[in-house]
Amino acid sequence: MIDKINSLRAEIEALTAADLAQVEALRVKYLSKKGLIPSLMNDFRSVPADQKRTIGQELNKLKEEATERINALRESLENVDTAADGLDLTRDASTWELGTRHPLSLVREEIIAIFRRLGFTIADGPEVEDDWHVFGALNFADDHPARDMQDTFFIQRNPDVLLRTHTSSVQTRTMERQKPPIRIICPGRVYRNEAISARAHCFFHQVEALYVDENVSYADLRQTLLYFAQEMFGPETQIRLRPSYFPFTEPSAEMDISCNLCGGKGCSFCKGTGWVEILGCGMVDPNVLESCGIDPVKYTGFALGMGVERITNLKYQVKDLRMFSENDVRFLKEFTAAH
Ligand code: DAH
Repeated sequence: MIDKINSLRAEIEALTAADLAQVEALRVKYLSKKGLIPSLMNDFRSVPADQKRTIGQELNKLKEEATERINALRESLENVDTAADGLDLTRDASTWELGTRHPLSLVREEIIAIFRRLGFTIADGPEVEDDWHVFGALNFADDHPARDMQDTFFIQRNPDVLLRTHTSSVQTRTMERQKPPIRIICPGRVYRNEAISARAHCFFHQVEALYVDENVSYADLRQTLLYFAQEMFGPETQIRLRPSYFPFTEPSAEMDISCNLCGGKGCSFCKGTGWVEILGCGMVDPNVLESCGIDPVKYTGFALGMGVERITNLKYQVKDLRMFSENDVRFLKEFTAAH
């Protein structure tokens, strides 16, 4: 009996299996009711009484060892199977890193949404432009400093090919193609030959608006501006218009809003004045309408243009313009809540 036990034990220690079916076959062979170990236990009855105790213990140990060995084989095969599927059910669930929208995109979309509610549609134009659409048709004198190399990136001279310095060029292109009524908004990137610093960059973003129809008045401009300012910065926002000069508008103005940080009381952000400048605007100069083939006697219009970076700074107090184009994920993550 002891010999049988020992030889089975050696067999069991050396067991191997290639798959789970083989493990099951081993279980049947050694442990099932008619398996080798239970049959050995049946023979236990014939063991002489003085050996019963030792042999009984040995038999029980053998059964335990066989069970353990076969379970171990099964477990190792089960683990291999799941690893092969690339599945580890014990791993922590991994969280998805969600991206955030760029603050300039958020603000641009918000500006567009406000003007959409007033019936403006989006117009687009090229970033690589010619002199006529950026300057000539917009009433810039030949010697206007904006045409200078100091401000404009030229790609080619005579005929001039250049990067647009403002989105007002889309006004020109739209008026050339389309008859009034025209009510468009033109978001886009613009380029200026500036040294890069916290306050200036060689490219930035603007949104331009243009409304041309019969009887468009300065009052329409003012009301549109007030609506925009209050939608963008809150219903308590005040506006004020200061006379200014742009070649393409007459009269021209710059718009300030009551400082959205101190509510107009005066703080370091508004330099104690209670007002911050946000955009340029005016009534479209009759010369511009004429250059684009629109009858300036029949039609009038207003235009306005703003910098998206400027509005974003006012809304979110971004101190350094360069952060907008550095693509630092930590900066972008700060705008998660703004979505
Ligand atoms: N184009 C001007 C700029 O880049 C902004 C501007 C001012 C646009 C007045 C307008 C306007 O349409 O009426 O500084």
